Amino acid sequence: MGYKEVYKSWQDDPESFWMQAAGAINWTKKPTKALDDSNPPMYRWYADGEANTCYNALDRHVESGRGDQVAVIYDSPITGAQRKLTYAEMLDQVSRFAGALSAKGIEKGDRVVIYMPMVPEAVVAMLACARIGAVHSVVFGGFAANELAVRIDDATPKAIIAASCGIEPGRVIEYKPLLDGAIELAKHKPEFTVILQREQARADMTEGRDFDWQEVQAAADPAECVPVGGADPLYILYTSGTTGQPKGVVRPSGGHMVALHWTMKNIYNVEPGEVFWAASDVGWVVGHSYIAYGPLIYGATTILFEGKPVGTPDAGTFWRVISEHRVKSFFTAPTAFRAIKREDPNGEFVKKYDLSCLKALFLAGERADPDTIVWAQEQLGVPVVDHWWQTETGYAIAANPLGIEELPTKLGSPTVPMPGYDVQILGDDGHRLPAGELGAIAIKLPLPPGTLSTLWQAEERYKKAYLETFPGYYETGDAGMIDEDGYLYIMARTDDVINVAGHRLSTGAMEEVLASHPDVAECAVIGVADELKGQLPLGFLCLTAGVNRPHAEIVAEVVKLVRQQIGPVAAFKLATVVERLPKTRSGKILRGTMVHIANGTEWKMPATIDDPAILDEIASALKELGFAK
Ligand code: COA
Ligand code: AMP
Repeated sequence: MGYKEVYKSWQDDPESFWMQAAGAINWTKKPTKALDDSNPPMYRWYADGEANTCYNALDRHVESGRGDQVAVIYDSPITGAQRKLTYAEMLDQVSRFAGALSAKGIEKGDRVVIYMPMVPEAVVAMLACARIGAVHSVVFGGFAANELAVRIDDATPKAIIAASCGIEPGRVIEYKPLLDGAIELAKHKPEFTVILQREQARADMTEGRDFDWQEVQAAADPAECVPVGGADPLYILYTSGTTGQPKGVVRPSGGHMVALHWTMKNIYNVEPGEVFWAASDVGWVVGHSYIAYGPLIYGATTILFEGKPVGTPDAGTFWRVISEHRVKSFFTAPTAFRAIKREDPNGEFVKKYDLSCLKALFLAGERADPDTIVWAQEQLGVPVVDHWWQTETGYAIAANPLGIEELPTKLGSPTVPMPGYDVQILGDDGHRLPAGELGAIAIKLPLPPGTLSTLWQAEERYKKAYLETFPGYYETGDAGMIDEDGYLYIMARTDDVINVAGHRLSTGAMEEVLASHPDVAECAVIGVADELKGQLPLGFLCLTAGVNRPHAEIVAEVVKLVRQQIGPVAAFKLATVVERLPKTRSGKILRGTMVHIANGTEWKMPATIDDPAILDEIASALKELGFAK
């Protein structure tokens, strides 16, 4: 069957489609039906089934004879380390670590926060939680203590698993002081922590609260898999919304397994036993789905890469990893390719390696600009697939399903909707727009298995954020269009979310930090176009009356404040002081207009603007920063 037939087979009978897909999973209690739609708009998948994700990711492969196959390759150019762990070794590590957590009182349904860099133990910790039915919440290492504290208070974990440090080019980031700071800041206190001591920076331990990873694991009896209900949560992953309070995306366990397994062949076109590499981080959804769970549930080999596309040690690192580990299918963010292209425009490093193993490149996380796609196609000579998804969905909404059929590529389009997703373009009034017209991208409910079931302890927020604007639909927060051939185009976010180097960030959260500075009366943060990172945050500050300190001093202070409060990953380095902000007559800040002025793109004077003259002031402030050309 080609793509059209597969998509139609889902449309004609979604229940059969998803029941058939569920056959790829080992259930301890088989689900009798796929969708439970008895309580719309809250849908549940495989709700009467039971299975364990860790069993499906490890035990079953060992039982079926894949025990000696490499499950995880750890390749760390930043430390010079490499390790290979077979499925049998992973099972041993995970079941003993799960046993250690159980012995310390972690039970099914308890939350466990994981704050770890790209080391195999991060995946061991995730799977150990899954094994005993605990719900993990991984927090990205580039977030500051305050962001970690916000997540601790929301997820209320019984335990936190962390490493002593992460390593960025040129600096070792000690995690333990950040963790201690976060626990201090948080209202909720975990009962204990488990710390993986890394030699680059050993952590000081608090007697009675902090336990050494090696010691607890060595002393533990292996734990068995606990059956988990299909609709029960596997993990919570926080992602940026419009405010400083991140959204706790809840991932139900059954649908997650079914959907990820389906994508490994149908989208990524890998077979069990082959090597799949997602160069992302376990702190992001890509890392959850395609470093940890997807490849392992499928029986493939995954790579944990602790390094950067450039500088560790050079722009050939990716090619070295691909050729050395015989990667078949590779996934990264466009920004990584832009970084490589900038350093090695003629692909001199590409030529040094035998990349004959590589059959496809997948890009996601942000818009893939045509220049980057064409460069990648020319350098690698394999299909380059832009695919579109979100933390909320957990896997691609639109893609070129290479395992079904390689569809013709259209530059600027992540190709076509995947089965399960009825994607439509809606106007402000909620009506469907014809082909070629730009509107809000919405997905007809129910969302397919594996997508978010709700926001953690915030069902009302879930409904308000995603389901209320267009009744009967999930609002993606992206705007775009569908052409006559059914190809999707993702143009922009409709909310205050920006995308910096493939990292999803909230301008609203940054505004909250800026506003907390005593000299700032009012502020706005926008995302301006950047050649390397796609977008960069830029802050406008209006000062409190009477403040006459040098502007540069205040700017430096707010930059430091965002780094302290949100973290280095926010990449907030640009801010300027202005007299006033452009607003509508009802007082809404015209951020979109400011973005157009900054980027030099076409814009119309908003009919509702209060005082158009302010835009001239904004334009000259932007020019001073090198924008608005
Ligand atoms: N822990 C601590 N700090 C981190 C971090 C982590 N895990 N990840 C990033 N940071 C820091 C960086 O060191 C940098 O700090 P600096 O301001 O002191 O330089 C800051 O956060 C911004 O990081 P980043 O935006 O990643 O920029 P960079 O200049 O370090 O690297 C790229 C640029 C393009 C090479 C890099 O962004 C990259 O590899 N991007 C790919 C992104 C990706 O894979 N996204 C996942 C979605 S699929
Ligand atoms: P995240 O939740 O971090 O995965 O970010 C999701 C958002 O990133 C989407 O809502 C889009 O705005 C953007 N995004 C992800 N993939 C793509 C893509 N292929 N093309 C355009 N935008 C994308």
